[in-house]
Amino acid sequence: MRVQVAIIGSGPSGLLLGQLLGDAGIETIILDRASREHILSRVRAGVLEEGMVGLMDKAGVGTRMHAEGLPHDGFSLAFDGRDHRIDLFGLTDGKRVTVYGQTELTRDLIEKREADGRPTVYEAANVTPQGFDGESPFVTYEKDGITHRIDCDFIAGCDGFHGASRKAVPENAIRTFEKVYPFGWLGILADVPPVSHELVYANHPRGFALCSMRSQTRSRYYIQCALDEKAEAWSDGRFWDELRRRLPAHHAEAMVTGASFEKSIAPLRSFVAEPMRFGRLFLVGDAAHIVPPTGAKGLNLAASDVHYLFAGLMEHYKDRSNAGIEAYSGRALARVWKAVRFSWWMTTMLHRFPDTGDFDQKIQEAELAYLTHSRAAETVLAENYVGLPY
Ligand code: APR
Ligand code: PHB
Repeated sequence: MRVQVAIIGSGPSGLLLGQLLGDAGIETIILDRASREHILSRVRAGVLEEGMVGLMDKAGVGTRMHAEGLPHDGFSLAFDGRDHRIDLFGLTDGKRVTVYGQTELTRDLIEKREADGRPTVYEAANVTPQGFDGESPFVTYEKDGITHRIDCDFIAGCDGFHGASRKAVPENAIRTFEKVYPFGWLGILADVPPVSHELVYANHPRGFALCSMRSQTRSRYYIQCALDEKAEAWSDGRFWDELRRRLPAHHAEAMVTGASFEKSIAPLRSFVAEPMRFGRLFLVGDAAHIVPPTGAKGLNLAASDVHYLFAGLMEHYKDRSNAGIEAYSGRALARVWKAVRFSWWMTTMLHRFPDTGDFDQKIQEAELAYLTHSRAAETVLAENYVGLPY
């Protein structure tokens, strides 16, 4: 089989790229090692910058996002028993974010791809990008005991942090940068109304907490936990008690609790691979970089990568120029590193680090105090949170 662009991974990166290319008349196939059901059961973050919202519209899949997504004009930083609101809208000349779960966004993209009749192979084993150093790349995979080969012009490695694409690159051609944080996030989903109509990011001596949501009736809550914690050790009651302790009293008292239907622990990591192009293989989204979820940037970085790669591929196919393809890695990484910095800074400012001494603790408190007294500092936070331009 032959397509123009072979896409490895049916997450937001691969699906969005596939949709934009398909609409432009470029043939794609998506290969994923997971099943459709598994992909649609993954729970991930859900804060969309305007750039991501615009790409969903451009891909023709924005209807449900606009109907069900919640526009947010601000969020709260909670510490010292109080809330400090960051007025995103006022500080950024009218920009806002949209809260819409990544699971829903993925469903919209998968259903559109199916409606358009574009091919996806699920449960494809041993997916391997090959020949990308030369003019004739191809991807092999196994399905039901048979080995298949897809010839193509380009391979888009959209297969996440643990995928095969980055691993296929020779070690001496790639450089990686990594920071692993000494804690994780224990998250739950519950069908209870959110404690506040905006997100609350809390810094507390017992650790960070985040109150987020999926809808007016579904809440997503997180608490910072030790890396060796087990989700099974946390009954719902224990979780709610701990979350309440970390929030200002007015939130703790107003909180509606109930049975959770998802509970899991995620480690926090910053990771960047450079470059993001190796001949005719591109790394896109989590395959190239990971950020801790504190700044809600993971999905939004996938979107800007797709934007740059789509532009480069269009230049190749429509204008017969490879300039955009050659610029892809540099353009994407320039934005990636700024979001990596922002996510690291939010994480550092809001969490309790196990080995923090008195000095570092005082610096963290000064950072928060500065933010609440300086419009310039708030503006820096707001400008990054709503997303840097691309
Ligand atoms: N072969 C084929 N498919 C693979 C392989 C492999 N070896 N490894 C992983 N995959 C698939 C996964 O099953 C998944 O469906 O690649 C897909 C990668 O999707 P994501 O992890 O969602 O990555 P991405 O599309 O870049 O989305 C970025 O997702 O992880 C969050 O924080 C991240 O929100 C951000 C967004
Ligand atoms: C979420 O809703 O899951 C969420 C929101 C904001 C974040 C991280 C996660 O910073």
